[in-house]
Amino acid sequence: MRRGRHLVCRSRLRSRSAVTVSKGRDDAARAEAQPAGGTPAGHAVAIESFLAELAAFREAASESLGRVADAAGLEQARVEFLGARSGRLKAIQKLLSGLAAGDRPAGGRHFNDAKAAVTAFFADVQERLVGGGAAAGAAAADAIDVTLPGEPVRLGHVHPITQTIRRVQEIMARLGFESVDGPEVEDQWHNFEALAIPAEHPARDPLDNFYLAVARGADPLLLRSQTSTVQIRVMENRRPPLRIVSLGRVYRPDTADATHYPMFHQVEGLLIEPGTTMAHLKSVLRQLASSFLGGDVHVRFRPSFFPFTEPSVEFDMEWGGRWIEMGGAGMVDPAVLAAVGYDPDEVSGFAFGLGVERIAARRYGVADIRDFYRNDVRFLRQF
Ligand code: DAH
Repeated sequence: MRRGRHLVCRSRLRSRSAVTVSKGRDDAARAEAQPAGGTPAGHAVAIESFLAELAAFREAASESLGRVADAAGLEQARVEFLGARSGRLKAIQKLLSGLAAGDRPAGGRHFNDAKAAVTAFFADVQERLVGGGAAAGAAAADAIDVTLPGEPVRLGHVHPITQTIRRVQEIMARLGFESVDGPEVEDQWHNFEALAIPAEHPARDPLDNFYLAVARGADPLLLRSQTSTVQIRVMENRRPPLRIVSLGRVYRPDTADATHYPMFHQVEGLLIEPGTTMAHLKSVLRQLASSFLGGDVHVRFRPSFFPFTEPSVEFDMEWGGRWIEMGGAGMVDPAVLAAVGYDPDEVSGFAFGLGVERIAARRYGVADIRDFYRNDVRFLRQF
């Protein structure tokens, strides 16, 4: 039996006239041939044509559903393909009755398969959209709202002792003093001998210094007990004129109390220039005190003694109606100048040293210097 060719217009599946009929399965069929849906039930629809309709339906539905991007698109596709009233599937279902009785079971099976396949695909797409919607919702919840104010970043700041050091360095720089550093582990020469502190001097007592156990012997090393060491190191390496200031840590085995700590900081100043006098020294210290505390601060000298200065003074500054002891100073002792290779008949200069914690405590009204080192942020945040 020769099968006729079946032409299907896929783009118009819903149109019944699009379904061609068999051109000759048998004579009877040919006689009855007429456009599908044109009527009567009977064997108006060839199974091949019907199957082609189903195949085209599946293909179009899967293509359409595959392209669906949102709920509205999905609903449109549902109405077009699966719609109960005028969906394409419904149109094909109507063709079933036009199949030859013998073809109907197979046609029905194919119809059901196609229906199940497209319905399942529809469910998949629906799931994808709903799932995607949920995912999109979650993404939206996680999204960063760039319009919200940011979390403030809590900035740390410089420790009050470091602030004091930097301020003193600034002031001294304006007076022409260069900031220099020296080592905190020192030898006997720089910490004592060159500063005219002889071996028998009580300042060298082991109980008053942190000698290093690793470097015992004839010339044990120690943690420097004063920043005057830097005067020696600079003078050994440079020729006058000199204006230097050195701020750093020093160490003494003191029991910590409100005014003592085994580690503290000193400001060391040294000026070596021809014609230097105590008047220059006093002017510089007064400038430093006035700039640091603000206002016109008075300073006074009291006679004192240091092995490395001659004459030596303690200097005080007036603050809040009281004289506050700030440190030691004096004209550099000729023995010190000679120790570093200078000619004491040619050069002269002054030196001074003061405690950084002491001036910081005065300036900030801190009663107990241990507070500087407790690392209690509630204290430190105040500066
Ligand atoms: N180095 C001394 C001390 O630690 C302080 C001092 C006094 C430094 C007199 C000086 C100075 O430069 O001239 O107590």
